[in-house]
Amino acid sequence: MKIVKVNNKEELSEKATELFVHALNRLEKPVIGLATGSTPEGMYDKLTEKYQAGDITFKNAITFNLDEYASLAADNPNSYRYYMDEKLFNHVDIQKENTHLPNGLAGDLQQECTTYDERIIEAGSLDFLVLGIGLNGHIGFNEPGTAFDSRTHVVELTESTREVNSRFFDSLDEVPTEALTMGLGTIMEAKEIMLLVQGVKKAEILKKVVHGEVAEEVPASILQRHPNTTIITDIEL
Ligand code: F6R
Repeated sequence: MKIVKVNNKEELSEKATELFVHALNRLEKPVIGLATGSTPEGMYDKLTEKYQAGDITFKNAITFNLDEYASLAADNPNSYRYYMDEKLFNHVDIQKENTHLPNGLAGDLQQECTTYDERIIEAGSLDFLVLGIGLNGHIGFNEPGTAFDSRTHVVELTESTREVNSRFFDSLDEVPTEALTMGLGTIMEAKEIMLLVQGVKKAEILKKVVHGEVAEEVPASILQRHPNTTIITDIEL
């Protein structure tokens, strides 16, 4: 794993944008995996600015988001589809039909996961994947204990993840109890991974991810086995 140390959130967003743009420009039809959450917000703003300045285009890009809540419609402001539309897709020239998120309203959620995984493979697997990390080491919604060879699947969210994410909802009760997420096996097939980790509260978990044992109890520790992962962080390791 390559570590890029930055000094603050602004620098993290700049560096992340730089790597993203490199991946976007390098390939004729880039297949890009995307994360939601607070950490990549600055990067999405900068990508939008670069598009508006005429410096980059998304017209040939295909995207697959890591995850989506079960039971939230696309027009629900807490759905990850809504987040992506608001933060990036509505402001750039990406073709909407080339943007993919698992459908949390599908009648058969497990079938939806299987189809999602197949679509990623059909697209040639992810060329570049943006990840954030949860306080318990989750990536996507892969909570501690998730099998390293898991494919896209339905998860029951832990209470801690629901509590952390409840900051975006009116109350904890409104936070869905299930989500659909790329599995750790799916994530590991990405050709290049960029993990963004910001803020001292994530120092303890990041140290485990980088220096600790590779163990299912710390899902992101599997990235030690990935041949092309860069961690961009403002944490001193
Ligand atoms: C979001 C996702 C999650 C977040 C993680 C960190 O699509 O997959 O794993 O990356 O929960 O979230 P923030 O950036 O809000 O701390």
